[in-house]
Amino acid sequence: MQTLSTLQQYAQTGLTFSELSEGYLVAEIDNAHAKARIAVQGANVLDYQPKGQEPVIWLSPVASFKVGKSVRGGVPVCWPWFGAHEVDSSKPGHGYARVTPWTLQTVENLDSGALRLRWQLEESNATRTLWDLDTPVTLDITIGANLQLILTTRNLNDSPVIVSEALHTYFTISDVDKVQVHGLDGCEYYDKVEGMQRKTQTGAVTISSEVDRVYVNTDTECVIEDQGLQRRIHINKQNSQSTVVWNPWVDKANKMGDLGDDGYRRMLCVESGNALENEVIIPALGEHYFAVEYRVAAM
Ligand code: BG6
Repeated sequence: MQTLSTLQQYAQTGLTFSELSEGYLVAEIDNAHAKARIAVQGANVLDYQPKGQEPVIWLSPVASFKVGKSVRGGVPVCWPWFGAHEVDSSKPGHGYARVTPWTLQTVENLDSGALRLRWQLEESNATRTLWDLDTPVTLDITIGANLQLILTTRNLNDSPVIVSEALHTYFTISDVDKVQVHGLDGCEYYDKVEGMQRKTQTGAVTISSEVDRVYVNTDTECVIEDQGLQRRIHINKQNSQSTVVWNPWVDKANKMGDLGDDGYRRMLCVESGNALENEVIIPALGEHYFAVEYRVAAM
C-alpha cells in the first residue's frame, strides 16, 4: 500500500498529500481549472469545485473518514457488483472497490492545464475472498474545467466475467425542491422504493419523497437543472446503459445518520453505470470501460 512518503514522488506534478484521519490518505489538486481531493481508499473523488463556481460534488458535512468504511459523498466506485451481491448478502453492498486502497500509478499534466491521475485497485488476500477472479481495474480521473472519470476492467481469465458497476456520484444542489433531472423521459426503471416494480418515466425527475430508481437501457445525457444555483450539470456518459437516481429523503437520512442536518436536501445522486439487466459480460482476455464527464453551465 502506498504511504504518504511513497506518494511524495508525485509532488512535482502539483499534487499534495495529507492524512485526513488515521491511515486515510488524500491527494489534493489545485490547478488552473479546479480544486479537488481524491481519497486513496476507493480512489474516491471527495470534492471537485471548478474555479469561480460552487462545488459540483457533495460531501456530507459529517462524513467520517475511516479505513474500511465507505464515505458518505463524493464519487464512490461501485464494483464489481452494484447494490447487494446477487447470491451472498454477507458480501459488501456495492462491491468492495470503494473500501479498498487503490494505487496511484501515473499522473499526467495535460496541455489543457488539467491533471489526469490513473489509479489501480489493489488486490489482496482480503479482496480475493470476495472476488477470486483476475480482473485488474483502473480509474482515470481528469481534474480540469470538467470532471472526467473512466473505469476500465480487464478480464485476464480464460472464461467470460460478469460485472455490474456504477460511479455513485453525489451532486451538490441548492435544495431538492429546486432541481429537476432531465434526460430520462420515456425510460424504463426499476423502483427500489416499490419492490423493484418496473415503470416508465414521464417527464423530468423531481424529488419530493424517497427516490431510488435504476433506469435501464439508457445512454443519453442527463442534466440536473438547478433553479437555486442557476446552473445545469451535464452528465455525459459512454458505454453506460444504466442511470441510478437516489435521494434517501428525511426518514432514511435520519436512520443513516451520516448525511448531516438536512443533508438529504443538499445532495442528489445521479449514478452512471451498468446494473441489473445491463450488467456487462467481459469476454475472456477482453476489456470493458465506461466513462462519464460532468460539465457545469450557467442557466
Ligand atoms: C444507491 C442505491 O445506489 O445507493 C440505494 O440504489 C442505496 O438503494 C444507496 O441506499 C446508498 O448506498 P450505501 O451503501 O452507500 O448506503
